[in-house]
Amino acid sequence: DRKIRIAPSLLAADFARLGEEVRAIEAAGADWLHLDIMDGHFVPNISFGPGLVKALRKHCALPFDVHLMIAPVDPYLAAFAEAGADLISLHPEAGPHLHRSLQTIRALGKKAGVVLNPATPVAAVEPVLDLCDLVLVMSVNPGFGGQSFIRSQLAKIAALRAMIDRSGREIALQVDGGVTAETARDCVAAGADVLVAGTAVFGAREYGAAIRALRAGPAG
Ligand code: DX5
Ligand code: ZN
Repeated sequence: DRKIRIAPSLLAADFARLGEEVRAIEAAGADWLHLDIMDGHFVPNISFGPGLVKALRKHCALPFDVHLMIAPVDPYLAAFAEAGADLISLHPEAGPHLHRSLQTIRALGKKAGVVLNPATPVAAVEPVLDLCDLVLVMSVNPGFGGQSFIRSQLAKIAALRAMIDRSGREIALQVDGGVTAETARDCVAAGADVLVAGTAVFGAREYGAAIRALRAGPAG
């Protein structure tokens, strides 16, 4: 059985109490902390930058999973690596040379991920799979928390699961957007092994119970 990891998205946390929030989700059993970086240009919303990532680093021992939604992305890779990212993911549309960007992340000593928007095909990641530690399937259009899960992305998750298994490499398959206890089951059944959830965790009264419900998987 594949181990399922839960990565709460800080975007849905109380921004006035972020230190407490990251300590709370760590205590509640989260596996990674998902940090959504938005520039108001690549996506129609602005979130936070490397200064905040750095400030949170001393409040949380979880791996920092940094999802960059900024363009151009290359000038900021080093800043997020230095701020304490463990894994840096980017969209193929965010720069002219995806392969080079992934090489840069690896050269900074960090894990690298490629993010596929709902309209971006699986083929976009295939030629660079050897540089990927993670592939992220967006199950909403990026920019905002609290949107509805786009079910057509389940087939993409299944296709990527087959591609990753064929490669024989250890590559995490992550899903982000509209993940709830219900849609989590479908994602895991399709082959995902890292679930990002903003509203489903930070919108819940009890973070631990919310994380356990997401982890329950297809049988749950
Ligand atoms: C959307 C972000 C997501 C978002 C998920 O652009 O990448 O990580 O925070 O939020 P929910 O889980 O509420 O859909
Ligand atoms: Zn995200």
